[in-house]
Amino acid sequence: MLADNEKLKTLTRLGIELNEVQDLDILLERVLTQARLFANADAGSIYILDCDSLHFTYTQNDTLRKQLPHGEKLIYSTFTIPVDKTSMAGYVAETGRSLNIEDVYRIEPTRPYRFMKGYDDATGYRTRSALTIPLKTSSEHTLGILQIINAQSEEGRIVSFSDEDEINMHHFASLATVALERAQMTRAMILRMIRMAEMRDPKETGAHVNRVAGFSLEVFEWWARIHQISSTEVDKTRDILHMAAMLHDVGKVAISDTILKKPAKLNDAEYEIMKQHTILGARLFQDRQSDFDDAAAQVALCHHERWDGKGYPGHVDTATGAPIKGRADKDGTARGKLKEETPLFGRIVSIADVYDALSSRRSYKEAWDEDRVLTTMTEGRASQFDPELMDIFLSRMDVIRSIQARYRDEGV
Ligand code: C2E
Ligand code: SIN
Ligand code: SIN
Ligand code: SIN
Ligand code: FE
Ligand code: FE
Repeated sequence: MLADNEKLKTLTRLGIELNEVQDLDILLERVLTQARLFANADAGSIYILDCDSLHFTYTQNDTLRKQLPHGEKLIYSTFTIPVDKTSMAGYVAETGRSLNIEDVYRIEPTRPYRFMKGYDDATGYRTRSALTIPLKTSSEHTLGILQIINAQSEEGRIVSFSDEDEINMHHFASLATVALERAQMTRAMILRMIRMAEMRDPKETGAHVNRVAGFSLEVFEWWARIHQISSTEVDKTRDILHMAAMLHDVGKVAISDTILKKPAKLNDAEYEIMKQHTILGARLFQDRQSDFDDAAAQVALCHHERWDGKGYPGHVDTATGAPIKGRADKDGTARGKLKEETPLFGRIVSIADVYDALSSRRSYKEAWDEDRVLTTMTEGRASQFDPELMDIFLSRMDVIRSIQARYRDEGV
């Protein structure tokens, strides 16, 4: 247990840390850890509100963790609870009031809520005391709940949560709320950025970016399955890749209309300028704030690299566009990224982008039929494209077609 002066220090330190760390997952795990430490609680969870249900998103349980083989993680299904008064969590989310319960198996029958004992039944854990606090913004908007379970006395007996615990938990709840609000704001800004790129180039961008993102996600999910990436990791990555893929050509906002909308083939000088859209796009995410910025920079920079190393812009410094020292060819131009030198997301989006460019009408070309597209792309397997990812793409053509049907070009 922490002494009072230590508690104040911890709270202050955590507040500062939260301003430095940008990754929402890390932030909320830390809030939960510190909240549990403060109240000496054996377990705890944070649930996030999404539409009308609460998702059990972060959970920690010391007793269950100690029973696991070393290094293994607690498995928790991503189960959901409806926001209504029948569960403790739902009641707190709906009413915005916190609940401090001494024994969840002895809730007075007159109360509307019950303890959902599914988790206890599944794990053999015995929940007793539970303190549940809403994550409420200053405008009274509920974003989720923080729940800590089984307060322990110094002798390790399970006791009730005190009034002081309740006051302290409101501090943690507000730290978690700020982190969540910031993440939601970032997301909203990214969506605005995508709409802005659409305004610049409405004919090509709108449906194109949705299809490229959809194809990319499909390839990534199958790649992750083959490589046995954990579902937690895939869940975290899905949203990031989707938004990053939508922004693959965002650098085109800086290319002049005469080139961008030229209804004919580009000459060499024009094509050189056009190629800059990769570096210009990556530059927007250079000031790294989160995993999303890394992914978006990777995709913008690398989606025109080729498996055989003959793509562009190659090994360049994003800030200056100059070749990286020791990575230039004899003529002084940057060497193209070869094979896995191009990060996974770049290799994936490259396939999705070319497939879509060939299948669609452009100011400079007609749409090709599927046979011609697939023949051309198959010729590029292992020269232009990562052969493994190309095979995954080809094996998912039924889904690719349904994504094309969902996002058709308007009026072209
Ligand atoms: P985009 O239209 O989204 O095309 C993406 C990529 O699809 C191209 O990258 C290229 O790899 C492939 N692609 C598109 N059309 C064809 C084609 O007819 N044949 C083959 N084999 N591949 C094709 P790339 O070439 O680096 O071009 C990047 C961007 O530059 C294009 O994006 C487009 O916005 C612009 N662009 C390229 N060539 C022309 C052109 O001749 N005229 C105009 N107006 N824009 C062009
Ligand atoms: C509830 O708050 O009622 C659900 C808690 C749980 O099942 O762990
Ligand atoms: C170029 O204009 O040289 C590139 C043509 C293309 O691949 O679309
Ligand atoms: C990832 O697993 O998300 C990235 C791996 C890579 O860049 O190859
Ligand atoms: Fe591009
Ligand atoms: Fe594109």
